[in-house]
Parts: sequence; C-alpha cells; structure tokens
Amino acid sequence: MWRRLRREALTDAPAAFGSTLADWSGAGDTEVRWRARLTDFPFNVIVWWRGIPAGMVGAYLADADRVELVSMWVAPFARGRGVGDAAVSAVLHWAHDREVGLSVKTDNQAAIRLYRRHGFVDCSPPDDAGERRMLRSISMNQRPDAP
Ligand SMILES: CC(C)(COP(=O)(O)OP(=O)(O)OC[C@H]1O[C@@H](n2cnc3c(N)ncnc32)[C@H](O)[C@@H]1OP(=O)(O)O)[C@@H](O)C(=O)NCCC(=O)NCCS
Repeated sequence: MWRRLRREALTDAPAAFGSTLADWSGAGDTEVRWRARLTDFPFNVIVWWRGIPAGMVGAYLADADRVELVSMWVAPFARGRGVGDAAVSAVLHWAHDREVGLSVKTDNQAAIRLYRRHGFVDCSPPDDAGERRMLRSISMNQRPDAP
C-alpha cells in the first residue's frame, strides 16, 4: 500500500518531492527496496478517509532532539478534509517532546499553510534555494491552543 500511494504521490506532485518517480521505477521499484524504505524510516503512516487510503507521511529521528517530517502527501480527492491535519498530528504525537523539522518547496503554499497551522515557522536558510526550512519547537506543545 505504501508503494502504491508513494508512486501516486510522485506522479501527482513531482515538484513537491526530492525523489522522483523515475528513482522508484524499473530497477528501483523492487519489494526489497520498498521494505528497506519502511525499515530505514521508523515512522510511516497511511491516513484513511471514509475507508479509502487517502494520504501518507513519514518521519525519522534526525538527531536526539529533532524529528524530520517527510513524504507528506494527500490524494487530490481527499484534500481540504483534514487528512493533512491528521498526518501532521500523527508525526507530532510520535515526536512527543522533540522539535520537528521539514523542508518544503517555497512555492508550495498549500503545504506551507498546513504546516503553519500546526505551529511550524521558518528557520535557518535552506541548503536549496527553492526550499524553505520550517521548524516546530517543543515550546509549541505547552501552548493551550496547540493543535
Ligand atoms: C499539501 C497537502 C499535503 C495538504 O493536504 P490537505 O489535507 O489538503 O491539507 P489542508 O486541508 O490543510 O489544506 C491545505 C491547503 O490546501 C488548500 N486546499 C484545500 N482544499 C483543497 C483542495 N480540495 N484541493 C487543493 N488544495 C486544497 C488550501 O489552500 C489549504 O489551506 P487553508 O486551509 O489555509 O485554506 C496536499 O495538498 C498535498 O498532498 N499536496 C501535494 C504534495 C505536497 O505538496 N506534499 C507536501 C510536501 S512538503
């Protein structure tokens, strides 16, 4: 299921991700590789909407105090219905008392609005000029209105 959704994501929104469909096609599209991806990243979630797999997100420990959110995607039919919120919330729950970082393309306003709503703010300049780095600090967890 992860493979199917991730390939849909790379087809639907190629500009949003560092990986490409080509990277995960042909010789790159093996069960061993997909299983390794799910093992290498300790947190992988599929979000269902009305009984249909509708979104995905992953996360890993970038260092002792920081989790990195990756592979966020919501299927077009399910956008604007809280699936992205559920995916971000799942990562924040898993991160517990760690800060959470992510990279997002500078022109990806839908994703930036989603992340801002969950307390992410711009942080250090990104390595890639076309991306922005966002961080959600642990102090957000103490806010009474924290999502
Ligand atoms: C970014 C994304 C994950 C948001 O998922 P979502 O569940 O629709 O999230 P939200 O409902 O919070 O919507 C976020 C923004 O998308 C826009 N949006 C809402 N409904 C939409 C729809 N039906 N179609 C397209 N965009 C929509 C809105 O601008 C919304 O911002 P707002 O709530 O401030 O108005 C999803 O659009 C997506 O998967 N995009 C392609 C992949 C991608 O960009 N991944 C992020 C990589 S960093």
